[in-house]
Amino acid sequence: MKIAFIVGTRPEIIKMSPLIDEVKKKGVNYILIHTGQHYDQEMSQQFFTDLELSQPDYNIGVGSTTQGKQTAVMLEGIEKILLNETPDIILVEGDTNAVMAGAIASSKLHLPLGHVEAGLRSFDKTMPEEINRMIADACSNLFFVPTEESAINLIFEGINPHNIHITGNTIVDACLRNLKIAEKNSNLVSKLDLGENILTLTIHRAENVDDPKRLKNITDALLELNEVTIIFPVHPRTRKNLVKFGFYDSLEEAKHIQMINPVGYLDFLLLLSHSKLVLTDSGGIQEEAITLNLPCITLRYNTERPETVTAGGNILVGTTKKVIVDNVKRIISDTQLYQKMINALNPYGSGETSEKIVEIILKSYNDRKLIIKPSEEFISHDGWYLQKIDENINVSEYETNNNNSLIRIVFDADEVKYPHPLLSLKNKTVIIDRFNSKIS
Ligand code: UD1
Ligand code: UDP
Repeated sequence: MKIAFIVGTRPEIIKMSPLIDEVKKKGVNYILIHTGQHYDQEMSQQFFTDLELSQPDYNIGVGSTTQGKQTAVMLEGIEKILLNETPDIILVEGDTNAVMAGAIASSKLHLPLGHVEAGLRSFDKTMPEEINRMIADACSNLFFVPTEESAINLIFEGINPHNIHITGNTIVDACLRNLKIAEKNSNLVSKLDLGENILTLTIHRAENVDDPKRLKNITDALLELNEVTIIFPVHPRTRKNLVKFGFYDSLEEAKHIQMINPVGYLDFLLLLSHSKLVLTDSGGIQEEAITLNLPCITLRYNTERPETVTAGGNILVGTTKKVIVDNVKRIISDTQLYQKMINALNPYGSGETSEKIVEIILKSYNDRKLIIKPSEEFISHDGWYLQKIDENINVSEYETNNNNSLIRIVFDADEVKYPHPLLSLKNKTVIIDRFNSKIS
């Protein structure tokens, strides 16, 4: 069996690394394709070093350009490699342009695609990431979703629940494993000479840093927050725009703000673990914060990680100066709120996600479920039906007894339930998908 991993940016390298380790441990053959979307030492190679990953087998070297051209060059490059390598499954992770390009290339070649971190939705289609993850999910065959909430997003988009696996998020595996290594090997904290009340800050979302009004609001809030020491590893996109819009110098001159280059994973984990709170618009850092029991303030108006908010560990503050400042002050001064945020339960698992995903892939391969070919049977869709179930029967039993039917969605009164095979259907209403013949 051969697995092809596709990565392109910093968070994909981090979140794929525990999966690559697991695949290596199991002795499975794999190739690693880097699209080259991130290419600076501190945005790419540093993570291969920190995470002890072997160099990619291929690097498409796409670099930075427009969204369309970047995707097109990656699509062409990935297609060529896949035609040559014919892997048994391709894995993409998250929502970057590399994910979309990898997903389209794989599905057009009828090669099976596994989407790690499938099902996340911000419901904001102005974000390039929302389009990327929706397209990736439209092309995928196996869906590794972090939580039940993301699984429910997919069932409402018509994805077959049998292909959805609720596994947690590999960020927890990466974070927990590497924090221990970071505590031994990173000297960032002593180098920076950190005091009390450290606030770690990252921003890079296009909708924040490409918009001068939003970036000014955020800059003004940071300048006002002088009761904390702000450590700000600056993403290259952000640095470029801070300079372009003329905000860079005021931040650099502020005594309570330390602007540094992006740091490696070990250094960043150590920095988070010494921080009082984190202010960010990153996706992965919202997940890491709740994993490390660190209160998170998210500089966005929506999140595809709503579980962190409902768990109580993350607050969305948007980008107005006053709301940002008030919330930072409130969290550091209100002990009760601070404790509640620290104690929020991590919805992303306890660090066994990569093991679960690799087991599912190997089982699917052994059960010959990774072979994609056109059907030679006549299959037609018989329609969608709403039905109240009175019998004492679970999802799996119902589908076995009615083998032309698939339970898509279950309603328990007004609550939506994910159709787990063992979920009892008694007194529940279901949406059933019927076919004219047995479905496999
Ligand atoms: C990309 C992803 C985003 C992800 C982020 C992780 C898309 C659409 N966006 O955003 O989802 O959260 O990566 O960090 O895929 N640059 C450098 N050096 C580098 C890389 C980038 O200088 O190594 C600069 C270039 O000026 C480039 C800009 O940063 O134009 C933006 O890079 P790009 O890869 O297009 O998007 P990100 O903002 O990094
Ligand atoms: N990160 C890092 N060094 C930094 C900033 C972030 O190692 O200077 C890590 C962080 O721990 C997280 C990942 O980068 O795992 C998040 O990447 P980013 O915020 O760029 O992308 P997103 O998660 O929003 O897609």
